[in-house]
Amino acid sequence: MIRVKSEDEIAALREACAVVRDCLKFVGERVCAGMTTKEVDTLVYDFIKASGAEPSCLGYYGYPASACVSVNEVVVHGIPDGRVLKEGDIVSVDLCAYKNGFHGDGARTFRIGTVSETRDKLVRVTEECFFKGIEGLKAGTPLYDIGYRVQRHAEENGFSVIRSYTGHGIGREMHEDPSVPNFGRKGTGVRLRANTVLCIEPMIAEGDYRVDVREDGWTAVMHDGKSAAHYENTVVVREDGVEILTL
Ligand code: MF3
Ligand code: CO
Repeated sequence: MIRVKSEDEIAALREACAVVRDCLKFVGERVCAGMTTKEVDTLVYDFIKASGAEPSCLGYYGYPASACVSVNEVVVHGIPDGRVLKEGDIVSVDLCAYKNGFHGDGARTFRIGTVSETRDKLVRVTEECFFKGIEGLKAGTPLYDIGYRVQRHAEENGFSVIRSYTGHGIGREMHEDPSVPNFGRKGTGVRLRANTVLCIEPMIAEGDYRVDVREDGWTAVMHDGKSAAHYENTVVVREDGVEILTL
């Protein structure tokens, strides 16, 4: 069941999302070659705590960190560890903050120094996919129009969309209905109502979209070993458009 939010609830969500937005910016200004993914996670933990919020991911179904830090062939849910970031890597940082009883969720993929032309394009196109996905989105839009637009842009650029992970609703829970796939048929799915809050998160692969999950039960790795990127914002569907809460 999709729970539409009241204006008071959206005001609370806005605060949680501001922490996510500011934390992603903070991390983006600091992440660099030589840093471990664990050090990135520490930046996230300290920032969220200092903002008077809680890292929603920490302990979520036993997840052991505050952020997912996913390098190159890791598409999502990379567990921070001793992996050292190198020049040419792309690293996605995905984090959630809990404040006033609500969760905010967002992700960015950062380039470490100069990256290959393909990785550079992949990061750019993944961001563009988010903005394509929300194009024309407003109350009454069929849910799968989002995925249709994301998929079309990714595939027009020679990339593929991950099928096994999706965006989602958010609110008092980090994951609420509906699932928001990054693929789909135009004109299908429920018509979204005003004040629906969604996390729209294109996960785009350079090669084939198949993903394997490592023994740790989390780390999602591209089957073909090629790179993937991730970009996510929490948005509110409004009568006349969308409000992006994590930008
Ligand atoms: N932020 C992720 C999402 O977009 C959640 C990651 S799972 C967790 O849904 F265990 F890390 F929380
Ligand atoms: Co999410």
